[in-house]
Amino acid sequence: MEKLVHLNSARSRGIHEDERVEAMLKELEEEFMVSDEKMRDIIKEFHQEMDNGLKGKESSLPMIPSYVTKRPTGKEKGSYLALDLGGTNLRVCLVQLKGDSTFDMEQMKYPIPAEAKASTLFEFIADCVEKFLFLHKVPVDPSLGYVPCGFTFSFPVNQTGIKRGNLVMWNKGFSVPNAVGRDVVNMTQDAFMRHHLRVKIVALVNDTVGSLMTSGYSFPNAQMGIIFGTGTNACYWEKASKIEKYNGDDKDSIDEMVINMEWGAFDNALKLLPYTPYDNKLNRKSPNFGLQSYEKMISGMYLGEVARNALLWMIDRRALFGGRSSTELNTGYGFDTSYVSTIVADESADLEEVRVVIELSLNIPETTLKDRQTVKRVCRLVGDRAKKLSAAAMCAVLLWRPELLDSEEGVSVGIDGSMYQFYPEFEESLIEESKKFLGEERASRLKLVLSKDGSGVGAAIVAMIATN
Ligand code: GLC
Repeated sequence: MEKLVHLNSARSRGIHEDERVEAMLKELEEEFMVSDEKMRDIIKEFHQEMDNGLKGKESSLPMIPSYVTKRPTGKEKGSYLALDLGGTNLRVCLVQLKGDSTFDMEQMKYPIPAEAKASTLFEFIADCVEKFLFLHKVPVDPSLGYVPCGFTFSFPVNQTGIKRGNLVMWNKGFSVPNAVGRDVVNMTQDAFMRHHLRVKIVALVNDTVGSLMTSGYSFPNAQMGIIFGTGTNACYWEKASKIEKYNGDDKDSIDEMVINMEWGAFDNALKLLPYTPYDNKLNRKSPNFGLQSYEKMISGMYLGEVARNALLWMIDRRALFGGRSSTELNTGYGFDTSYVSTIVADESADLEEVRVVIELSLNIPETTLKDRQTVKRVCRLVGDRAKKLSAAAMCAVLLWRPELLDSEEGVSVGIDGSMYQFYPEFEESLIEESKKFLGEERASRLKLVLSKDGSGVGAAIVAMIATN
């Protein structure tokens, strides 16, 4: 009898427990939800902020003129060194533009060590370039006396010319001191000088601009470049007449210019974004608190961390893993976004891949199927929100110039980055959402192209255009 009572209460406790977990998941669902109505509001706010930014009024979108005013034709020819400083790696490339919309490229990828991110970045860049030049026997152009180089720099820079620009701020975990406010090309060129390198930076571009230029090399209707990677951002071709704040000497002679939007900063004031306590926890500990709010909800650097915060919320309430955690899970950024991708992609009935991540990478043994299902649901919520916000931003820019989508040639968008390439069904979601917000007709004239390693090639293309 006693035993029966015990069993019954255990059973009823089990049911109760399941309901409690379910209620918590529902709460998360509500917090992370991005409704269609919210998407429409975001698109509307984007347009307002784009307009303000172009006019030089206060805006969360910096809308930075890139000084790139000529489109690639595909006929560009020549050999250029290209540096691509992303959030995770530095790539050094030797790009041979062949003049027939194709190119050859030799490249080396150097992971950026924590020390370089925090202090020795420019020395690190010069070191890598020195190694690359030696290894690939890159010749100095005899007519110039140096190796011409395009530099893709994936941080906000207030450009003052095609090869000049001051760093506005660091993000994506970088914090090199005495760099904000200074000219990025000068700082790099100084490091080259210390290494006696005969390399001259002739063009400075944002990675989104690189992406756009690369897709433009093969697709004449390329209008927009996007990065969905460690960080997120976009650029697009804007009519010169709309860029009211631009005061360059060529103001009256140019038709259009690429604008680097720096959309990661959208709605930093959090008027609209579905901001949760898990985002706040991340934000509070980040070196750029209150900045890059959109990026922190979308990009690969942060998704794992948001998911980790939500999982810990459940663990602390004994709604997951029986309340157990691990050093890995307790460590900031210990839950990588690649885990989120793997977990969300697992369609098996017993969630074997999820088990491997939790038990082997996160060091939490003996998970139940219920645990694994819960983890998958949480990861999904974080990822789905990122997909929706990404699509809202892309649609907003496309709807800013709807006449392009209405034209017969349509619009190509060059996209690069780990989220776009590896997050499950990221591209599918962009397409689905664009049907909803652009309409089927317009969406049918939209082409998303993977601009793989586009930042490097794009820098070479801009270097070529800038020097000819
Ligand atoms: C960050 C940078 C931006 C870059 C993006 C993608 O948002 O501010 O310049 O384009 O990351 O790498």
